[in-house]
Amino acid sequence: MELTAKRGIATAEDISGWRSEFPILGTCTYLVSHSLGAMPRKTADYLQQFADEWSSRGVRAWHEGWWEVGRETGNILAPVLGAAPDTISMHQNVTVAQGIVGSCFTYEGTRRRIVLSELDFPSNHYLFEGFRRYGADVVYVPSADPIRLDLDRLLDAIDERTVLVPISMVLFKSAFITDVRAIVEKAHRVGAFVCVDAYQGAGTVPMDLAGWQADFAVGGSVKWLCGGPGAGYLYVRPDLANTLKPALVGWAAHASPFEFATGEIRYHDAPERFQSGTPNVPSLYSARAGYEIVASIGVEPIRERSLRLTRRLMDAARAAGFRLNTPDADRERGGSVIVDVPDGAAVADEMIRRGVIVDHRPGAGIRLAPHFYNTEQEIDHAMQVMAEIAR
Ligand SMILES: Cc1ncc(COP(=O)(O)O)c(C=O)c1O
Repeated sequence: MELTAKRGIATAEDISGWRSEFPILGTCTYLVSHSLGAMPRKTADYLQQFADEWSSRGVRAWHEGWWEVGRETGNILAPVLGAAPDTISMHQNVTVAQGIVGSCFTYEGTRRRIVLSELDFPSNHYLFEGFRRYGADVVYVPSADPIRLDLDRLLDAIDERTVLVPISMVLFKSAFITDVRAIVEKAHRVGAFVCVDAYQGAGTVPMDLAGWQADFAVGGSVKWLCGGPGAGYLYVRPDLANTLKPALVGWAAHASPFEFATGEIRYHDAPERFQSGTPNVPSLYSARAGYEIVASIGVEPIRERSLRLTRRLMDAARAAGFRLNTPDADRERGGSVIVDVPDGAAVADEMIRRGVIVDHRPGAGIRLAPHFYNTEQEIDHAMQVMAEIAR
């Protein structure tokens, strides 16, 4: 099948066509796309292409496409994120991308605050805690409800002392969807910048980075984008990008990298100015197949199907007597459902042993994540297995 051809996911036939593009789906009930999306068959071809180019072209490959691979890969991803072309640079992971964002600012005088939520993914806290040594004042906004971000409290915490607000678009523990637009509006009103961690949303929840006026967005490709590890992305608002001077840069961010000029950097225009060193070529090749599939189907149809499957899953979980640690309203819920099962870790292990692949997070429960390639029958089977084991 030509991956770039437009194909829908409306009919059972469409879905079975897509399923055959993901070999693992024929071997188990794969419901863990919030953690590691299934590998597209085409990924192996792209990795082979990389090996062939290295083997046959050697160092010449850098000037025959490898050097531009970051910008090109970002451009395949851009429509999925609701971003314009040439606004995305590619990095190892979210931490590196957010480190680059943090390094664009100074933390001195009265504006030196970084506002985070208690419910963020832990790396975001670990990274920005480290910015205290550069003068940052790191503030955590608490949330009485472990499922939902407290939007009013977060908005109140953003004021003229704030430099940066790194927020999760979809919370990793509950799949709650954050109101990014409201946070950006407040931040801009007081002169602060927003960095959206889109990892748990990109590829399953429609995004409009350009329309939201988000200043930055970061994420990776391991989950809903089915792109595998080593392909983190960094979006920067185009009208802002060329005014920023990241401190965490390397020679790939230089306007003329092959001049090897020493001393202070002369920045390339965006997106390369946010680059560090040598691009991670094999990871960027392997990420493409997943991006192409998600972009060719479109995130809106993926979302429609995801809502149908997650609703079915939640109904079955409630009917089996389980509590859900996920918002019930569609507008508040991302692609995963978190089921609070007694002895959840042991139940998840046994589900995996029986071929139903899920995961478990302490304090949350068993996470299940139907993607566009999953079927209604798989949902029903997974919930039967879960109920049987829990009993
Ligand atoms: C919301 C969110 N942000 C960040 C990360 C970590 O990303 P990385 O390993 O690319 O730094 C994860 C990983 O699960 C996540 O769910």
